[in-house]
Amino acid sequence: MAGEKVDLSGAKETLLMTLYGKALESRRPHSLLQDRFADEAVRKIDYDFSRLKVDGNLGLGFAIRAKTLDVCVADFLARYPDAIALHLGCGLDSRIFRVDPPQGVDWFDVDYPDVIELRRRLYPSRDRYHLIASSVTEPDWLVEVPRNRPAMVVAEGLTPYLAADEGPRLFARLVSHLAGGELTFDAYSRFGLRLMRLNPAIKATGSEVHWAIEDPRELELAVPKLRFIGEIPSYMPEQGARLGWSARLFIGLWRLIPAMRKVGRLLRYRF
Ligand SMILES: C[S@@+](CC[C@H](N)C(=O)[O-])C[C@H]1O[C@@H](n2cnc3c(N)ncnc32)[C@H](O)[C@@H]1O
Repeated sequence: MAGEKVDLSGAKETLLMTLYGKALESRRPHSLLQDRFADEAVRKIDYDFSRLKVDGNLGLGFAIRAKTLDVCVADFLARYPDAIALHLGCGLDSRIFRVDPPQGVDWFDVDYPDVIELRRRLYPSRDRYHLIASSVTEPDWLVEVPRNRPAMVVAEGLTPYLAADEGPRLFARLVSHLAGGELTFDAYSRFGLRLMRLNPAIKATGSEVHWAIEDPRELELAVPKLRFIGEIPSYMPEQGARLGWSARLFIGLWRLIPAMRKVGRLLRYRF
């Protein structure tokens, strides 16, 4: 059934790029992500995904990133089963269902109102699962989020779309509202943003990318309660093995060059 009309543009439309990539990877025989929700959502949505030119390799890249973040979130929630999870710029990502958090966890998915409306139409609800329909840069939505519990904050594919001054302001608001926890997200250097602008999917959506992070420690200065824990390797050996030899060779050579290593990376902070 292809019936759910979507009318998204710019940064919002990019959620269809990651969704489609995850769906493609999940159709593989030995899928890493096994995201049946992404696959089902793609089948329900009336949209010409071919215009985004997402191929199997890009899909695998999204799946590896998503799986790495899933493991990180699941690990935190196993340590703090009374925690809250805050998923910023959730798009149509089905992390809540993939991670299947412990019963004591309250999970909050945050994105623009029309994206949340689409989520409601495509995905089931569940206990202790909350949808917040707001731009993350609006100050008011945090009043819906409990303050005094350990918090796992995750953002995937969000930060480049924020203005350079909005990102640190958002994180400052988060750490002053929440009692403590971890923040994990993908970050891109200025060169990384330049490469991103060449990506056919980004071009097709007309979205603009702004916020670059050259040095993870610069965020500690901008948001003093944040402590940089480290970078999460995006390509664990067992995941890298899923790539073809030419892609592995390319990534291996790429990572030898210091400027290339920070093109795109997963950063982890404590607060
Ligand atoms: C590349 S998509 C990633 C979606 C999802 N995280 C994933 O990995 O599939 C970028 C997402 O960020 C959201 N986004 C961008 N700017 C936002 C903002 N200011 N407030 C809330 N969401 C935002 C978009 O609506 C979109 O869902």
